[in-house]
Amino acid sequence: MSGAEGKLYAGRFREGLLPELERFASSLELDRRLAPHDVAGSIAHARGLRAAGLLTPGQLAAIERGLRRVEEELESGRFRFRATDEDIHTAVERRLSELDPEAGARLHTGRSRNDQVALDLRLFCRLAASRLARRAAEAADALAGRAAELADVPMPGYTHLQRAQPVTVGHHLLAHAEPLLRDGVRFRHAYEAADQMPLGSGALAGSTLPLVREAVARELGFERLTRNSMDAVSDRDFALDLIHACCLCGLHLSRLGEDLVLWASAEFAFVRLPDRVATGSSLMPQKKNPDVAELIRGRSGRALGAYVALATVLKGLPLTYDRDLQEDKSPLFAAVDNAEACLEAAQLLVGELEFDRGRLAEAVADPGLYATDAAEQLVAQGMPFRQAHREVARQVREGGLAAPWGAERSLQLRRLEAGPRSGEVRREAARLRRWAEGHPPALAS
Ligand code: ARG
Repeated sequence: MSGAEGKLYAGRFREGLLPELERFASSLELDRRLAPHDVAGSIAHARGLRAAGLLTPGQLAAIERGLRRVEEELESGRFRFRATDEDIHTAVERRLSELDPEAGARLHTGRSRNDQVALDLRLFCRLAASRLARRAAEAADALAGRAAELADVPMPGYTHLQRAQPVTVGHHLLAHAEPLLRDGVRFRHAYEAADQMPLGSGALAGSTLPLVREAVARELGFERLTRNSMDAVSDRDFALDLIHACCLCGLHLSRLGEDLVLWASAEFAFVRLPDRVATGSSLMPQKKNPDVAELIRGRSGRALGAYVALATVLKGLPLTYDRDLQEDKSPLFAAVDNAEACLEAAQLLVGELEFDRGRLAEAVADPGLYATDAAEQLVAQGMPFRQAHREVARQVREGGLAAPWGAERSLQLRRLEAGPRSGEVRREAARLRRWAEGHPPALAS
């Protein structure tokens, strides 16, 4: 008997791996979350083997029966992992073999763990991308909903974090919603990047058996097949694409988080945080802290780190499969989980914000916000803009600019489409909400 029992490669070995190295090499802790995809992929593979005439109907039925049982055990938590299960693929096949030795012995026909793990990851990415597209749309919808409600509440707009020109709260909130719509599109692209079926590529060079790849792809709802078999087992671009979408989404949310942190400070005091979305200090009794917004800001770095981690694994890696690729899971899962958590937190926080209309009205009474309007008024009367700028600047310098009008009129005069005035904000908010409702258009998972 071989010392490598429990291993899929036991026939080649007299002794098992050192237990310390067993632990070092195992990816089970992470990849057990791929279990549903591994089982679904194996069932589709078995049906493909049947379509190729490599299994009898009875053999296929036995494999499916066994795998359903394994799936049940995994779902209910009754599945017993072994120390020698180096990854989820080994665990599933090992258990199937215990339940039905012949089914276990036939399942891996024409397949390698190299194309198997590529398949599992692609299934994971497809599902994650469609969930994240949905979540991004929901967060954008939450912002648009608040924007519609606050469409005609003026506030100062800032450049360099200095008061610049009047906008509306609605317009500012929509400025945070718009990037999330782009994230939705990016998640959709990440879905499409993952949507290629790699089985049939084998370890790297395909198989001498007459596999029917199209049948497997159809079973799993894949649009396309991967092409070059060596590329198919080495490629993790689709994972990087998804992490990249998570990076940008995180960056966008971090900017929303930063605005909310500022607005909740006593210096701005544009928003109050209800208790449900705030935290206190263990020492300072007066404190009410915007921790959720800060964490949304702070956690955006995780996806960036994940991108660098995976890109570093891939850089300079020789074709085709190398065990380094096992290191794809931790950054991928971290980026996806984090994006999901941050989108949910942002959506909840936005829904709870209480805007202080009194403070906002005080802030927009600052005549400086209308200095550009004053210059533009002179331009409308025929003065060259550079001269008008100097004229108004002189008034500001010499103590006292008379604002030509207040926020209301200033905003009404801004005719631009999707601009800050209330009518446009309402229209844009409605457009965003309609878009969010239809996106993503139902994706297969
Ligand atoms: N646990 C491995 C991974 O995650 C599965 C593929 C193993 N393939 C191999 N040739 N050792 O990448």
